[in-house]
Amino acid sequence: MCGIVGYIGNRLAVPVLIDGLKRLEYRGYDSAGIAILEGDKIEVIKTKGKVSDLANMVEKKKFMANLGIAHTRWATHGEPNSINAHPHSDCSGDIVLVHNGIIENYLSLKKYLEEKGHTFKSDTDTEVLTHLIEENMKDCKSDSFTDVLFQSLAEVQGTYGLAIINKNYPDSLFIARKGSPILIGKGKDEYIVASDVAAVLRYTREIIYLEDGEIAEINRDGYHVLNSVNDEVQKKVQQISWNLEMIEKNGYDHFMLKEIHEQKNSLENTIRGRLNYEEGTARLDGLIDYIDDLKNAPRIVITACGTSWHAALIGEYLIEEFAGIPVEVEYASEFRYRSPIINEGDIVFVISQSGETADTLGALREAKRKGAIVLGICNVVGSTIARETDAGVYIHAGPEIGVASTKAFTSQVMVLIMIALMLGRMKNLPLERGRNIVNALREIPKLVEDVLKNDRKIKELAKILSNHNNALYLGRGYNFPVALEGALKLKEISYIHAEGYPAAEMKHGPIALIDEHMPTIVIATKDAIYEKIVSNVQEVKARGGTVISIINREDTKIRELSDEVIEVPHTITPLTPIVNVIPLQLLAYYVAIERGCNVDQPRNLAKSVTVE
Ligand code: G6P
Repeated sequence: MCGIVGYIGNRLAVPVLIDGLKRLEYRGYDSAGIAILEGDKIEVIKTKGKVSDLANMVEKKKFMANLGIAHTRWATHGEPNSINAHPHSDCSGDIVLVHNGIIENYLSLKKYLEEKGHTFKSDTDTEVLTHLIEENMKDCKSDSFTDVLFQSLAEVQGTYGLAIINKNYPDSLFIARKGSPILIGKGKDEYIVASDVAAVLRYTREIIYLEDGEIAEINRDGYHVLNSVNDEVQKKVQQISWNLEMIEKNGYDHFMLKEIHEQKNSLENTIRGRLNYEEGTARLDGLIDYIDDLKNAPRIVITACGTSWHAALIGEYLIEEFAGIPVEVEYASEFRYRSPIINEGDIVFVISQSGETADTLGALREAKRKGAIVLGICNVVGSTIARETDAGVYIHAGPEIGVASTKAFTSQVMVLIMIALMLGRMKNLPLERGRNIVNALREIPKLVEDVLKNDRKIKELAKILSNHNNALYLGRGYNFPVALEGALKLKEISYIHAEGYPAAEMKHGPIALIDEHMPTIVIATKDAIYEKIVSNVQEVKARGGTVISIINREDTKIRELSDEVIEVPHTITPLTPIVNVIPLQLLAYYVAIERGCNVDQPRNLAKSVTVE
């Protein structure tokens, strides 16, 4: 998704802006651009393609500016080319801005502005903003640019995170937010603004997040944030614990591989200080104020998108088994628009790695409007979802840069296990069972490390799988969502079409596809329905299909039936998703490498989807 960086201070702006854009590359983009106030002129340079291409173009020019804005664009309106790339300018070239989000009424605004004599250069929705501001400057009696911004943005429908420079305000950088994140990184006599904290971490860990409706004017010596009714607000400065090393590859070829290998540590961080063996439970401080509401909840709804939605499905199995509370899981994009029923006492959980996904945020707001208590499970501290939920649990997985989510997923599942355990122990889950779960949870990081060490076999299998165009993933019970997640990983980064299915559902359709060209990956670790999955494997084999199974080391039956196996260590059934997903992440990774795909920046995908 689009990325914004802006700089005002005493350094040269270009290197800061380019470095910031590079840190945002992981989000996915197709073109990039930069605008700086050089002397008394705003210079705009844009290109289709990579930030490195943009860097080559600007570095030659030896700009001396120390005020500027920059952008990576992920096309929505208008094809990816240098004209549609941001920044965009008004007719005079004095007002230049970058924008994340979508201006929904841009066609009517464009018509109005063309009638007023404005000339448009691009096909984007964004460009209307520059001309609208220019138009409103003409009539505005106030000489405050923020007044003009308020007036202009009031005419806009849609979402925006904006960074703006105006030649006539050479000591100011302006930002605004509605629906798309934008933050200020506070340095010493310098400020870096960005849509994502990764772009500012090199310079500061003091962050000010803008809320919807707010506009800020930033100078070298301070900033003023105005709320939606144009009153100044005092903003909290948040300290971010992430550091630069955490957002670098540290010797790995890709962020995704690094993050897969970080899972022993990230899972340790997720459980640190939260398990209580004596009482056989978990303690989640973030939920303390809502413990009674949770315990008495007649129903829990969990909503999310993508990989987080898969974690939610596992959460449903966990909470229903441990705590006996009915759970419903729904895609956030469906939940927000279909008049979901929220009864008194129902609790809604939203799960989001980034804490910025537009649909999940929309679902959160819809649930709140309906009176539900909304609790969050997020990774990014201070993100919009983390701020807007009533309370929640951070997963503490550390920054996740790879577009295909890996360590966030396992930590989300870990948090859901702890929530289910905590609720279960407040209800009917016996102490001994609670203690067993706590013990098993403590073992998990070691088991994950064990799987990670044995990736030789997975690399071999990746060679075979990379020659296919389709794959079927099957799992049952807790491992049905793992099948979905394995299939999602493969399609996201290797572009092989893959479907996840509950193993028994295969015979209601997908079985028609089984032949020697359709490999089936079966998650078949030992549990109460192991024998059922043995039958499912036999069904595939009987039709000439190739089966790759994830099995426990001591397994014999499925080992014999399968063409290939990947061994994983044993854990208690509700915890198997965390162990079993690891080989599927690695498999997708190595298949993508075999096929020469760009793992960290898969085509058309974005790390954090901040538009609907
Ligand atoms: C995008 C990402 C996925 C992610 C999903 C939800 O589609 O590519 O990896 O699972 O968004 O993101 P969230 O940040 O809300 O968990």
